[in-house]
Amino acid sequence: MIVFDSDNKFFHLKNKDLSYVFYVNQLGVLIKLYYGQPIHDLGKEHLESINELSGDAHGYLDSDGKEVIPTSPRFAGSYLPQEIPTFLSYDKRPALFKIEHSDGSKVTDFRYVSHTISKGKPALKGLPSLREGNCETLCVLLKDQKDDVFVEAYYTIYDDCPILLRHNRIINKSKNVIRLFKAGSLCLDLPSNDYSILSLHGTYATDREIETTRINHNIVTIDENAGGKGFYHNPMGMLIKDGTNTENGEAIGFGLIYSGNFAFNFAGTQMEQIRAVLGLNEENFCFYLESGEDFVTPEAFLVYSNKGTYEVTHQFHNIIREHLLRPIPKGFEKTVLLNSWEGTYFNFNTELILSYLDKAKEMGVTLFVLDDGWFGNRDDDTRSLGDWEVNKNKIDLKKVVDYAHEIGLKFGLWIEPEMINPDSNLFREHPEYALYDRGLNPTTFRHQLVLDLTNPEVVDVISEKIISIFKTYGLDYCKWDFNRILTEPVSPFLTKERQGEVFHRFMLGTYEMMSRFVRSCPNILFETCSGGGGRFDMGMLAYCHQIWGSDETDGPARTYIHYSTNLFYPLQVLGAHVSARKYLSIKEKAAIAMFGTYGYELNPLKLSEKDISDIRECNELYLSLKDTIYNGDYYPLINPYDGSNFVSWEVVSKDKNSAAVFLMNYHLINWRSRFLKIKGLDPNKLYKNSLDGSVFYGDFYANVGLNVTAGRDNFTDQVISFTVVNE
Ligand code: DGJ
Repeated sequence: MIVFDSDNKFFHLKNKDLSYVFYVNQLGVLIKLYYGQPIHDLGKEHLESINELSGDAHGYLDSDGKEVIPTSPRFAGSYLPQEIPTFLSYDKRPALFKIEHSDGSKVTDFRYVSHTISKGKPALKGLPSLREGNCETLCVLLKDQKDDVFVEAYYTIYDDCPILLRHNRIINKSKNVIRLFKAGSLCLDLPSNDYSILSLHGTYATDREIETTRINHNIVTIDENAGGKGFYHNPMGMLIKDGTNTENGEAIGFGLIYSGNFAFNFAGTQMEQIRAVLGLNEENFCFYLESGEDFVTPEAFLVYSNKGTYEVTHQFHNIIREHLLRPIPKGFEKTVLLNSWEGTYFNFNTELILSYLDKAKEMGVTLFVLDDGWFGNRDDDTRSLGDWEVNKNKIDLKKVVDYAHEIGLKFGLWIEPEMINPDSNLFREHPEYALYDRGLNPTTFRHQLVLDLTNPEVVDVISEKIISIFKTYGLDYCKWDFNRILTEPVSPFLTKERQGEVFHRFMLGTYEMMSRFVRSCPNILFETCSGGGGRFDMGMLAYCHQIWGSDETDGPARTYIHYSTNLFYPLQVLGAHVSARKYLSIKEKAAIAMFGTYGYELNPLKLSEKDISDIRECNELYLSLKDTIYNGDYYPLINPYDGSNFVSWEVVSKDKNSAAVFLMNYHLINWRSRFLKIKGLDPNKLYKNSLDGSVFYGDFYANVGLNVTAGRDNFTDQVISFTVVNE
């Protein structure tokens, strides 16, 4: 997978889907040569042909065939593709690192020292990352020209998927303190700028909307600076080459396995190339590295496709399922969940929850979740975060958990462990546990403050409390919420010089708490949440099994969220419930939620007998399609963001024996000709569809399409299944 040509110092990372080539020039600078479909090894003889730019001064070689180096009088290497770009020197594109040396200079120029190639991949200290598979890792050691500051640049490639992983470790071996102002994980220089970026932005209840931005000659930045609530921009995206569609052409998925502040810069150069830099956000970032200290950047990745955007989606799903997610614990194979939040909010007691459990059983639910309000004096959202003791005046937790288990239901609890209310015993005893600027009135979104997780004592105290609750009561599931952004991020624990470390150290503290939780409670089904889906990323998915998709539970609005989220994230991680909101019937809402983790979020005591029987029918349909939906290939069919009257998506099982299609009409438009082209079926297999019961070959459904012309009411939606039939 990784080949090193020692004569020419060329590195070639390759598998059946991609090649990534760079070399060490005569000065020791790492120069990128190629990223794309697999090709044969390159050598020095290819340099001239691969020169990206005309004119001696710009490319790899001058007109005499010599490498262009900074001391050549005509050197203008500002457009040379570099792996670890110099900073404040000739390269003026976005930097990978900004490092201040002890003399105040921020010029850096890292040159090759040595390298190793090994099987597997290293874990990243304190950070989530992909698991090993059949992979190899190249680590190139580089040294700054002036100081004893080193970079280890890591590249990992797997044999079975088109992903390239990158991260860097910066090591201060000088005698002095250095300061890190920017820490990037990956730099990708592309030789043309004919790409657009597909990214996901959003806010509360409009999580992850699709946006497409052309790069041209500008710098496009996709970033997040709220300290771990990624509503605004999701840390994933796709670079799509002009002319690419869903099934043909080049598309490159990218992202960071991280939940905190990140920045992705895409700069179109005047020479019509692109530089992409993925890494930590440099806003309010300043990390001190004492002599002997190091800094590890989060893991970044590229996913290559020359078969259009569907392939990127399929590969993202495969990689997350196979190399990131922890397996679902035993006993959750047939889970249908009921969450108390939209049914009763903070207003419940033991009797009410017991009656919810009885109804849940009748509904065919297998997991009940008691949401916010069971601890401290929490009867509204103004108090008690941090006081993780059961409010025994309100709820007899042991009684309700035991009763649930007795009637065959699992029981889960909501927590928000990274937060503290000023009105809490924890805050009264330990005001120093909260992050805020002591010289100002703190911003108290939702009446709460964020805990100072840069302080290991806080991590210890909170971890112990929450683990003890889950163990003591024998709980089966956890919903870990995070409801506000970080404001005035000043830590009383860190020295004044280290305040620029708060955002990143907060994330390290969160990851430490999550690791302890999953180590102590390995059999708990673990869902994260953030004011809906505000922290939907691969960092979280290294710990949890699923993420609550959005507090928007109205059916039609939800379809937009599902459509966009699943461009990147597999359906089995998308928390989705049927609520009592006004649009759509139970069956119609269920048709959407079953393309996710599936459950209910309503007052079960208000359900009629007919509702209950509809619900039981929906559960059965969901369970019959679950394997296909969780493990199959997802095809977005009709994009609602295009202003269409319809939305549609499809999942096909890997063996192509079954498929499930979702289709919804937003506005009543009858009598129009409409055929839905079904993707991914085997052209030579016969399938029966559940819409009209007819049986046709896969090639008929793919080319003629399924006739969905018949009139439908506003918002009518439908699940259509395709099942292989034996001739
Ligand atoms: C926000 C979540 O998104 C909701 O589902 C609910 O858990 C509330 N927090 C509880 O405070």
